[in-house]
Amino acid sequence: MAPFGSLLTLMLIYSSFHYVQPTKVWKDNNWDLLIYTQEWPTTACNEWKEKNPSHKCSMPSQGNTWSVHGIWPTKYGSMGPFFCNSSAHFDPEAIKPIEKELTEHWTNIDYGTSTYSFWAHEWTKHGTCAAILDAFNSEFKYFSKGLEYLNTYNLSTILSEADIVPSVSKTYDVVDIVNALRVRLGVNPVVECRKEQDEDT
Ligand SMILES: *[C@@H]1O[C@H](CO)[C@@H](O)[C@H](O)[C@H]1NC(C)=O
Ligand SMILES: *[C@@H]1O[C@H](CO)[C@@H](O)[C@H](O)[C@H]1NC(C)=O
Repeated sequence: MAPFGSLLTLMLIYSSFHYVQPTKVWKDNNWDLLIYTQEWPTTACNEWKEKNPSHKCSMPSQGNTWSVHGIWPTKYGSMGPFFCNSSAHFDPEAIKPIEKELTEHWTNIDYGTSTYSFWAHEWTKHGTCAAILDAFNSEFKYFSKGLEYLNTYNLSTILSEADIVPSVSKTYDVVDIVNALRVRLGVNPVVECRKEQDEDT
C-alpha cells in the first residue's frame, strides 16, 4: 500500500533514468529554478515492479521515509536544461564520504541496477546544470545539498502537521496534500501520484 504519491514532477524523467542519453546539446544552459524532488519508496518500488514482475526493490533500511530523487534545474515553461557538461563524468570517489547517507536517503530503489547508476544519472543530467551555482559546483556539493534539503523540507513533518500521515486504510485528497505543502513551504508544489495496479495483472 502506498498512501502517498511520490513527490515527483516529471514522470518521464523518473521512469526512464536508465535509458536516457544526451541526445542533443542544449544551446542555452540557463535556468530559472531548482525543483527539489522527493519520492515515497513504496511508490517508487511499485513502479519499478510494474515494469517487470521479476523486479525487486532495495528499500531504505528505515523503511518508508521520504527519499531524495534529485535537484532539477528548470527553465520556466519547459523541462531542463539537461546534460550541461559532457566532461563532468560521475566519479564514485567524490561522494565516498557521504555514500552511506546517500544509500539510506537517496536510495536507488531499482534493485539489480548498478550501485551508482541512479546517482550518476542525476549528476550528469541535472547536477551538471546546477553546477553553474557555487553551491552545486561539484558532485560532492550537489549530493550533500540533496541530503541537507531532506532535513530542511521534511515532508513527514510538514504533512503530519496537516494530519496527513501514512496509513494503509486512510486515503487523502491530493488537493489537501498540495495545500499542506503550499501553506507550509510557501512554494507551488507538484505532487505526482501513482495508481496502484492489481498485483495479478
Ligand atoms: C565541465 O566539467 C569539467 C570537469 O569537471 C570542468 O573542468 C569544467 O570546468 C566544466 N565546464 C564548465 C563550463 O563548467
Ligand atoms: C523528519 O522528521 C521525522 C520526525 O517528524 C524524523 O523521524 C525524521 O528522521 C526526519 N527526517 C529527516 C530526513 O530529517
